[in-house]
Amino acid sequence: MAPTKRRLEFGFRPKNRRALFMCIVLAQLAVILTGELLIDAWIKRSFELAPIYEDRLFWFRMSIALSILTLSAATMFLASKRYRDELESANEELEQEVQRQVKDGLKKRNALIFGLAKLADYRDTDTGAHLERIGLYARIIADELSGSYPEIDSEWIDRLVLASSLHDIGKVGISDSILLKPGRLTAEERTEMEKHALIGAETLLAIREKLGPDGFIDMGIEIAMQHHEKWDGTGYPFGVKGDDIALSARIVALADFYDAVTSVRVYKDAMPHEEAAALIESLRGTHFAPDVADAFRTNDELFNRIRARVQGETAHAESFTKLEDNARRYLEGQGKPLKLAA
Ligand SMILES: [Fe+2]
Ligand SMILES: [Fe+2]
Repeated sequence: MAPTKRRLEFGFRPKNRRALFMCIVLAQLAVILTGELLIDAWIKRSFELAPIYEDRLFWFRMSIALSILTLSAATMFLASKRYRDELESANEELEQEVQRQVKDGLKKRNALIFGLAKLADYRDTDTGAHLERIGLYARIIADELSGSYPEIDSEWIDRLVLASSLHDIGKVGISDSILLKPGRLTAEERTEMEKHALIGAETLLAIREKLGPDGFIDMGIEIAMQHHEKWDGTGYPFGVKGDDIALSARIVALADFYDAVTSVRVYKDAMPHEEAAALIESLRGTHFAPDVADAFRTNDELFNRIRARVQGETAHAESFTKLEDNARRYLEGQGKPLKLAA
């Protein structure tokens, strides 16, 4: 939802203001001329002036009238300018306020969405840190590809980082017996598991129906639906291939894959970075888009560092003590420190 660029206008528009200004000047001119005629008639009736004094008096009065006219025109001009300046600054303030509120709203929405995605992710990964790592990996690939795709700018990348958290949101619809099954899935279970891509897309489509078209939700739908599609068309749910797979989903597919193979799951150990990098390279052009795989290869050391750092943090975060610490710190921040019953 981009902040509105439309300027807010109050009062009369410049064209009307000029017309009003002209009317006032003409009215003043009419008042001054009428006054002149009346004064002239009064002087002629009351005094006997020599023609030379009559002439001087006429020019004296005319210059006073013109001075009044010029002065009032200048005052009008300055007043109108001040009004316009004030209007512009009020407009600017209002625009800033609207943008601040839009940003605020977006921040809240993004935080809520990330929280929900994390909740879904808790079910089968390590405390949801999987999503944080995927966001970082996706950012690295998108940065690397930004020269080749005009649509990739900083706004697009920010959207991708957050939308990547929605990739597995459909897993909330998969039963624990399949999601957490240690060991290989049967063909039937695999088919069931694969439904998470469409369940995720469907969930976000329901949000889109309420919200209307929205760049972020649209990207979330692409990612949820297509992050298991493969470059050669052998993926699921539709078997879409090549450029028909959304760019965002092509990037998240690799980020998700790398994180999944280098993380521990109930059914497997973590693969070392070098092995994962070699596996991704072997899948270049089949599973992964060639340029996305190349972007990974160029930055694979960065991936390795993030994996080591964020997985290290995760191991600690997994402990119940850490969760307790977080809850305790929150209560203290609220001025309600935890008091345990003696
Ligand atoms: Fe998935
Ligand atoms: Fe995932």
